[in-house]
This record gives sequence, structure tokens and C-alpha cells, in this order.
Amino acid sequence: MGGGEQKYVQEAFDTNWVAPLGPNVDNFEKSINLFLGGSSNVAALSSGTAAIHLALELLGVTKDDEVICQSFTFSASANPIMYLGATPIFVDSEKDTWNISPKLLEESIKDRIAKGKKPKAIVAVHLYGMPYKVEEIAQISEKYGIPVVEDSAEALGSSFKNKKCGTFGAIGILSFNGNKIITTSGGGALIAKDEATKNKAVFLATQARDDAPHYQHSSVGYNYRMSNILAGIGRGQMEVLQDRVNQRRFNYNFYKKRLDHFPEIEFLEEQDGYYSNRWLTCVLMPSFAIREKIRLALLEENVESRPLWKPMHLQPVFAEFPNYSDGTSEDLFNRGLCLPSGSNLSQNDLERIVALILTKI
Ligand SMILES: Cc1ncc(COP(=O)(O)O)c(C=O)c1O
Repeated sequence: MGGGEQKYVQEAFDTNWVAPLGPNVDNFEKSINLFLGGSSNVAALSSGTAAIHLALELLGVTKDDEVICQSFTFSASANPIMYLGATPIFVDSEKDTWNISPKLLEESIKDRIAKGKKPKAIVAVHLYGMPYKVEEIAQISEKYGIPVVEDSAEALGSSFKNKKCGTFGAIGILSFNGNKIITTSGGGALIAKDEATKNKAVFLATQARDDAPHYQHSSVGYNYRMSNILAGIGRGQMEVLQDRVNQRRFNYNFYKKRLDHFPEIEFLEEQDGYYSNRWLTCVLMPSFAIREKIRLALLEENVESRPLWKPMHLQPVFAEFPNYSDGTSEDLFNRGLCLPSGSNLSQNDLERIVALILTKI
């Protein structure tokens, strides 16, 4: 926490806005919009997963539609496709950003069309805070008329050519889950280009209640709105967002400076125009065996590190669905390690982690 959060939470108590609505929600949405550049329409929700679910629904995804999804991601990017009874089509990553490969994306679209169904949407992810190939993906989206749901859950504070992540897709989403760069303990946001889409999202997120004095419903709704208490935490967190990004980037630069001269360790560099919030510092080792040796050595000293996300096309729950893969994300999963990356790591912590890694390479 940054220190300012309790003031806003107290304000909610003092004014009795202990409700799923209230001034903190409005002001949190305003501060997110301001941070994103001022021309978005933000709806604060109960989670990033809820935001993806609503985004897909707003883009018209229904039962038996196909939705393309970056395979190298957390399962929350893909689960909402299943909630809607649609079919996920998984697409592998490219090596520059570890995100969805434009080449495989286009191949998959052509193949799905040839097989009889044009995909309804594309879920593209800025994984670990690194922006995906924004221009290439936008071009493909436009060429085939398939909108992008921009999963920016891990990338608040990242940008491409000075434009903030979350603003690139037809609809963007953010997460304020406990492990994210800022948190409301749990929460998310949907970022729409126009007010009507935001209003529709809020309508669906509050049980789709029609405009009537009684309770009247013409569509199925959800209970997905963020509470005014949690939005108070969010307001305080927005005040320290750039500090958090700076701390995360400091971690990355520290690890890179200390470990980069070992050819065994590869870092994910920023391409021209890319700015990553460096939510997590991730490295690649020469092999699975070395990755595991280092992970276990850290664990023995009570230092937690984790393998990179296991691709969705390799997950038992999604194994039956089509995938367009060239082995990239599988290789990243086998050789990659997320190093400790908290915003509150001390110089001592970082030194200790690096020293432990160096004993094993
Ligand atoms: C890439 C990605 N997408 C979506 C989500 C879902 O966000 P939430 O946990 O707020 O539902 C997360 C994180 O949890 C994530 O890392």
C-alpha cells in the first residue's frame, strides 16, 4: 500500500457509501482514465476476468463462436471464452515480446475462415507487462474485421510509442488482483472507446436492470461492479502507480546488470518504442534442468521463483481445442523463470537472490 488508501476508505465509511457504487468508484475510474491519456471510458469491475467476460459479450461473442486467444498467458485470458460457450483457438507467441505471433495469428485466421468460421474476437495479452506487437496485431485485426480484446491485466503503466497499454484494443481490460502492479485486493476494469460501450458494460455488471421503477430485466446480467470501499484503495494506489513501475523497473535493471554477462541467462529486452512496467522480471536459462536447479536452490533458501506461464494449448482443460503453435511458448515455459519482483524488495534481498543464482550457473 502507498499510504493514501485509508483516507479514501475512511471517506466511504464517513459518508456511508459502503455500497457497490459511490464517489470512490467514479473518482477511481477518472484517475485511471487520466493516467491512460484522458480519452477512454473506464468501468471499475470486480476482477479482470469479469472485464474479459463482459468485453467478449459486448463484442457479440455467443455460443459456438470461435475466439482466438494468445496461448502463452494465464488461464483467466481464456476462461471467459468458455463461460460464453464459445471455442478458444490458441495461437503461439513470437520471440521479441513473448506475446501473440502476428504470423501465426494471420495463418490461424485464414485457416479458420477456410474451415468455415471467421473468429469473432482476438484476445491478445501484454504478458509480464511487455506490450505485444501493437501495430502488427492492429493491422491484422483491421484487415479481417476481427476486434481485439486487449488483456492488459499485467501491463498497467506499460506503453508503446508513448501510448498506454489498455488503450489499443477495441476493448481493453485491467486487473487489480493482489499480485498486480497496483491492487485493490481484488478488482479489474474495462476500458471502452466510447461512452455507450462503457454504459452497456456497467449495465451488464449490475444485473442488467432496465430503466423502470420496479425490477425489470430483459437480458441476463452479472454482479461484476467494484465496491466503493475497494475503489477507495484503488484511488490511493493510483497515486503510487508510477513509483511502483519505477521500483519494478529497478528490479529488472538490477538483475540485468548483475546477470547479463552470463551468456547462459537471457533477458526479455524492450524493442524500439516499447516501455514495459516490468511487472515481473523473467529470464531464460539454457535448459529445463538448469532452470529447475536454480528454482530449487532459491526455494531451499525460502526464496520463491516460478516457471513462466504454462501455455493454454498444453493445459489439460484446453487440450481438445485447436492451436496454431511453433513451439515458442513451450520452450519459454520449459526454460523460463520469474524472479522475485516485488515492489518492496530491498537491495539486500536483490543481492541475496543474485548470489544464490550465481552459485548454480
Ligand atoms: C494475463 C491475465 N489476464 C487476466 C487476469 C485476470 O485478472 P483477475 O485476477 O483480476 O481476474 C490476470 C490475472 O490474474 C492475468 O495475469
